[in-house]
Amino acid sequence: MKDTRKPYIAGNWKMNLDRSRGLDLIKTIKGRLGDGSDREVAVFVPACYLADVSAVAQGSPLGVGAQNLWYEKEGAFTGELSAAMLREVGADRVIVGHSERRHVFGEKDEWMSRKLRAALDSHLMPILCVGETLEERKGNRTDRVLKRQLETAFLDVKPEEIRRLTVAYEPVWAIGTGEVATPEQAAEAHRFIRRWITGRLGAEAGLAVRILYGGSVNPGNVRNLLAVEDIDGVLVGGASLRPDTFIPIIEFGL
Ligand code: 13P
Repeated sequence: MKDTRKPYIAGNWKMNLDRSRGLDLIKTIKGRLGDGSDREVAVFVPACYLADVSAVAQGSPLGVGAQNLWYEKEGAFTGELSAAMLREVGADRVIVGHSERRHVFGEKDEWMSRKLRAALDSHLMPILCVGETLEERKGNRTDRVLKRQLETAFLDVKPEEIRRLTVAYEPVWAIGTGEVATPEQAAEAHRFIRRWITGRLGAEAGLAVRILYGGSVNPGNVRNLLAVEDIDGVLVGGASLRPDTFIPIIEFGL
């Protein structure tokens, strides 16, 4: 079943890299990508670099995405960017509900379904992030948290849209900490997410949806993670910032 889902390797730069180092990294990645037929690779860059990065990526299968969006079309939303604005500067995808947005900037569960709707309506492919904190895991509340995050985000998603939507399981305790979920812990959470989506949108959607793992992914652990049946790719933070760590992740299994 897993072989019907193309592996998806995504780098999330967060608020890192300056313009020149970022563009150098894109040139290196571009030079190492094949034709994109056996894996999908994308970078999620600071919005101020989207136009330059997408210009350099042009002509290659490298996807270029934003790290956030606001769901309204326009209006008095100081500091925010709409889906159409992101499209206009070259983004073809966007991250929705990253845990740093939820926990550092107070983004609410209720916003996520509208953000997904805005992205899908504007032909931006969203990656919806879900994941529990350490306290929630210790309190055996992981499934309950994932269910709540999925239920609030999937209010308005149609089964036929699932091929354009990706879910990323990012346990908050594994992000930027060097502590990676074991393949067993990740497998359990991914299985839960796929079952939930199957229950909500049907068997076909459950089989088709790609679920990425994120949290301290590096060249040393990527292979074991990607060997897990329900892990269809990775969302990489720190290790996506340098060619010597991101290229081996992109080239896993080659
Ligand atoms: P790290 O790979 O730095 O742990 O970050 C993971 C992440 O948050 C990707 O979105």
